[in-house]
Amino acid sequence: MSFRHYPVMSREVLEIFAGTRKEIFVDCTVGAGGHSHRILSAFPGCELIALDLDGESLALARETLREFGGRVRFHQGTYLSLFADFDCRRLAVSGILVDPGISTVQLKDGRRGFAHSQDGPLDMRKDASSGTTAADVLNSCGEEQLAELFIRYGEVANARRLAKAIIEKRLFSPWRTTTQLRQLVEGLTHWRPRPGRVHPAAQVFQALRIFVNRELEGLEAWLEAIPAHLLPNSRVAFLTYHSLEDRLVKRGFQQLQRQGKVELLRPFPAKPGNDEIAENLASRSARLRALEVA
Ligand SMILES: C[S@@+](CC[C@H](N)C(=O)[O-])C[C@H]1O[C@@H](n2cnc3c(N)ncnc32)[C@H](O)[C@@H]1O
Repeated sequence: MSFRHYPVMSREVLEIFAGTRKEIFVDCTVGAGGHSHRILSAFPGCELIALDLDGESLALARETLREFGGRVRFHQGTYLSLFADFDCRRLAVSGILVDPGISTVQLKDGRRGFAHSQDGPLDMRKDASSGTTAADVLNSCGEEQLAELFIRYGEVANARRLAKAIIEKRLFSPWRTTTQLRQLVEGLTHWRPRPGRVHPAAQVFQALRIFVNRELEGLEAWLEAIPAHLLPNSRVAFLTYHSLEDRLVKRGFQQLQRQGKVELLRPFPAKPGNDEIAENLASRSARLRALEVA
């Protein structure tokens, strides 16, 4: 698959990590390997642990990072198990990067079902080897539960109408494809494309993706555990792409600061500059937060 990959706010991420021991980094969400490549190039003495839930992303990252040979260790799994899977204090991890969500590669691959603009099965699992698909969710959840997930994870307008229409449709045939869902949303919202308007299915797809992958479950506990698993002066950089996740990270970081366990490196989130947004529109919603363990 040919694509141009832009690791989001990579200059700012490198600035954060430049202030550490620069020995061993963990890229919790290696994706296509863009950030990892920059980190390994910028700090020639360092090693890196590359994690991803998605086996296909990990395979791609292996290609991207091949030139760094034994400096990189790959591991498939959720970063929410990082502290159980690795003894980060003993390894003397200097910095951790989290850049969650989905990559451009995953988004553009119709087989994965992440994008309303690509026809394909309504799958949306990041780890495609297990778990419930988005189609399973639409075919089995009740109206109330569907409405609630659309509101909670996508702030979808008219979520109850959408949930009702989903249930009515499945009485005739089960939900199978991204196109079916996109067309239902377009019909309900009388969608007419206009420059600068976000497609109404984007929020619906985001909500389903967060629900299918349980993206926010365990995040608060993970944030709370950071100081116990990292040595003083280690740093954590966290990129978020939607307000729900950003709120959790903001509150988690602030709580650690109030407890005197960390210093916030940036009191407010950093945002991508206009140059970066012009080059990579997908970066526009990114917010970067960072802390140093006290
Ligand atoms: C935005 S992409 C990361 C892009 C990467 N920083 C780069 O520069 O190429 C997000 C990646 O995080 C992975 N991911 C999302 N949630 C995860 C989790 N809980 N644990 C591990 N990986 C996760 C996705 O599979 C995807 O490959």
